[in-house]
Amino acid sequence: MSKVIIFTGAGISAESGIMTFRDAGGLWENHRLEDVCSYDSLDKNRELVLKFYDTRRVQLSKVEPNKAHIQIAELQKKYPDDIAIITQNVDDLFERAGALKTIHLHGFLTSLKCTICEHKMDIGYTKQDRETSCPKCNNLLRPDIVFFGESAPMYELLIQELNDCEIFVVIGSSGAVINTDNFAAYTHYSILNNLEPSYYIDEAHYNEIIYAKATEAIDDIIHAIEVRL
Ligand code: APR
Repeated sequence: MSKVIIFTGAGISAESGIMTFRDAGGLWENHRLEDVCSYDSLDKNRELVLKFYDTRRVQLSKVEPNKAHIQIAELQKKYPDDIAIITQNVDDLFERAGALKTIHLHGFLTSLKCTICEHKMDIGYTKQDRETSCPKCNNLLRPDIVFFGESAPMYELLIQELNDCEIFVVIGSSGAVINTDNFAAYTHYSILNNLEPSYYIDEAHYNEIIYAKATEAIDDIIHAIEVRL
């Protein structure tokens, strides 16, 4: 397992042009979370949900990885056994930045999954074809996103990675859904990089705190990691 976990949230993709959720003007200001990202959203209004993720998926084709994605991908390629990239984000910006492996805790926007057999298929940056059903069992397909109230199996990998983690880095995550304070408290060295303090995060648990844009903080973060590897 890896010595370093780089744990990210929507903030790391903000400078690439992807909206965060809880910043001013964020996604949850313009959409009701319970309408498009709750366990019963598809049953209540399937078309609204599919349209919401279609819009975000097509938008993904228009943005690029930023310096923070690229620097982290380079670090993982330099130390492939020591760097785990674990993200709450569903975008593919780490993959496009050249990362070797990214663990997506909340799903992946370019992927659909079967509502019954969970078979997955990648549709790239296209809109979901409403007529296409699961090629394996012919049931309805849905966005491969973990909705609130649904199980998130990839959390198991986060817990496994935490077992050997010595350096825990948080970039662009408010802590609203996954609180990282305890993860930081139990590692030798922890870094927090957000734009501003978060209601959900207790700064006392972090060794180093950088309130700045990820692209401005990333050089210092990479240096702080490398001197401890
Ligand atoms: N650089 C660094 N941090 C930034 C930047 C930036 N350019 N822009 C915003 N941030 C920080 C904000 O300060 C905030 O702490 O990113 C964080 C974004 O918080 P949220 O919008 O709550 O996003 P996130 O923490 O990823 O949300 C977690 O909530 O709705 C669910 O599933 C969704 O995965 C998401 C989860």
